[in-house]
Formats: sequence, structure tokens, C-alpha cells
Amino acid sequence: MFRILEAKELTTNIIQMVVEAPRVAHSCLPGQFLIVRVDPDGERIPLTICDYDREKGTVEIVVQAVGAESYKLSTLKAGDSFTDVVGPLGKPSELCEMSEEELKKKKIVFIAGGVGTAPVYPQAKWLKERGVDCDVIIGARTKDLVILEDRFKQVSNLIVTTDDGSYGRTGNVTVCLQDLWNEGNKYDLCIAIGPMIMMKFVCKLTKELNIPTVVSMNPIMVDGTGMCGACRLTVGGEVKFACVDGPEFDGHLVDFDQAMNRMKLYKTEEGRLYLEAKEGDTHHGGCGHCN
Ligand code: NAD
Ligand code: FES
Repeated sequence: MFRILEAKELTTNIIQMVVEAPRVAHSCLPGQFLIVRVDPDGERIPLTICDYDREKGTVEIVVQAVGAESYKLSTLKAGDSFTDVVGPLGKPSELCEMSEEELKKKKIVFIAGGVGTAPVYPQAKWLKERGVDCDVIIGARTKDLVILEDRFKQVSNLIVTTDDGSYGRTGNVTVCLQDLWNEGNKYDLCIAIGPMIMMKFVCKLTKELNIPTVVSMNPIMVDGTGMCGACRLTVGGEVKFACVDGPEFDGHLVDFDQAMNRMKLYKTEEGRLYLEAKEGDTHHGGCGHCN
């Protein structure tokens, strides 16, 4: 069992938890994720890691209650436990492989959309710990939905933008990025994490601006180990599985329209059967949903 040490609501339906998971905390790196199960009969829920403390053996997660299972998760309190915490899963961020010298030469901008703000934090913190400055754009629909602002101020040059203009700059993250670019911020690398539709439009803009862009893909995941095929994507014309080949990919090569369409189809049995027939050997059947 994995004990929850802290649980608090950051804003409506978005919960932050600190969980005792020493093995994950000991080895996880920015960019990786974990899968939890609330109880022995529960579904596996993939969650991005917001922070970790190797000494205390804890990981921090941020959860948005959007479905039955994540709602159940969001009702847990400090003192409750998860049945399983599996991780770290996926590959660490490319940033972890770059030397400090390489990183310091780059002007890096993170684009953090909505709940996708949480997994940006460990990357910005990683850079700060190595003396590397970065800009972070947090985009939220309204002021109430801006999360982790104080934490980001400590590790980055933070720019907040809200769609309705209720806080910070006005407009979505692409408007903000274009404005910053026009104001003279010539970025060498963009890392975008948030809803798929946001990442699609960020990549459209950064392609025009010629900024290499990394995205963190979060399609539906079931096993998180490359077996079931739920998280199948096409990247640069090749089949990839977000859980083992990613979650980070070159955003200019990702087929976002296919990924978004596939997520919709994967939610129904008929859709999964269609995908199985269409994708053939590359579908990676075996998740138990297909047959
Ligand atoms: P949201 O819909 O409130 O969007 C957040 C911000 O993204 C907006 O304020 C806007 O600035 C920007 N955005 C959205 N659509 C855009 C568009 N078409 N063009 C330009 N910018 C756009 O986000 P939310 O409700 O907090 O996000 C929930 C989604 O985020 C879920 O689908 C969840 O799966 C996803 N998510 C992704 C990751 C990841 O690793 N990629 C992590 C956590 C959550
Ligand atoms: Fe990636 Fe199953 S979740 S293959």
C-alpha cells in the first residue's frame, strides 16, 4: 500500500497529493509518469509526476477529476492509501540528457496548458537546479484555473495568460507565444504540455517560427508497458507507443489529428474493434478490450 501524506484541492476538481512511494521517488526523472490504482478492483490511472523528494521517498501528483475513476481518486484524503503505484514509466525528458553547457546555450520556453502545468514543473526545476534560466507560459481559461503559480515563480520567468483576460495577459498560449516572439524573445526550444488540441496549435505556430518543439503526449493508456496498444500514435510516419517510446516526441512530427480521433474511437468497444481491424499487426492487441 502507498500512503497519501497530503491531499489538497488546488482549484475546482484539481487535487494535489503527496504520496509515499520510495522506489519511484528514488529513480524518477522529469518527463516520466506513473500509474496508480485506487483499490484492488480499480482501473489503472496514468498520472504525470509533478515533483519528487528522493530523501523523503515521496512523489507529488496532480489529478483532475474527469471520470469515475479519477473522481474516486480525488476523494482520497491524507492517511488513505493507493493499492498500487507503478513507475517511473516512460522515458525521461530529453533535457535530462543534455549537458549544462548545452542547456545554458539555449533559450527555452515551456508552454503549460491547464492541468498540463503540473508535469512542466519538474522540468523547470531541473533547469533551475543547474543554473539554467527558462521562460514558462502558463495558460488557463480563467484566473481560478491557474495552478502552481508560486512554485513556478521560484524556478522560472513566469508569464501567465488567461483566455478571458481575468489574470495576466489575455488570450490563449499561442497568442502569448507569438506576442513574446514579436517582443524579441527568440526561443531555441519549446516544450509544450497540455491538452492535445493546444499542443497541435502550438506546434503549428512553432513550425512557422522555426522553433524545435517537444510535446508530452497523453493518449489513453491501459497497461503503460507497450503491450496493449491503447496509446498508439503516428510520429514521423512511424507507429509509436506513448508509454514506452515517449511520452515526449518531436511535436512537428506528431499526427495530432489522428491521435485525437483515435482517442475518441478507443473509448467504445465498436471503436476499438474498428481500430484493431484497421491497424492490423501494429494495433498491439492483447489489452483485453479488443476481443
Ligand atoms: P484547457 O482546455 O483549460 O486549456 C488550457 C489552455 O490551453 C488554455 O487556457 C489555452 O491557453 C490553451 N489551449 C487550449 N486549446 C487551445 C487551442 N485550440 N489553441 C491554442 N491554445 C489552446 O485545459 P485543461 O482542461 O486544464 O486540460 C485538460 C486536458 O489536459 C486533458 O485532456 C488532459 O488529458 C490534458 N493533460 C495533458 C497532459 C500531458 O502530459 N500532455 C498532462 C495533464 C493533462
Ligand atoms: Fe501504451 Fe498500452 S498504454 S501500449
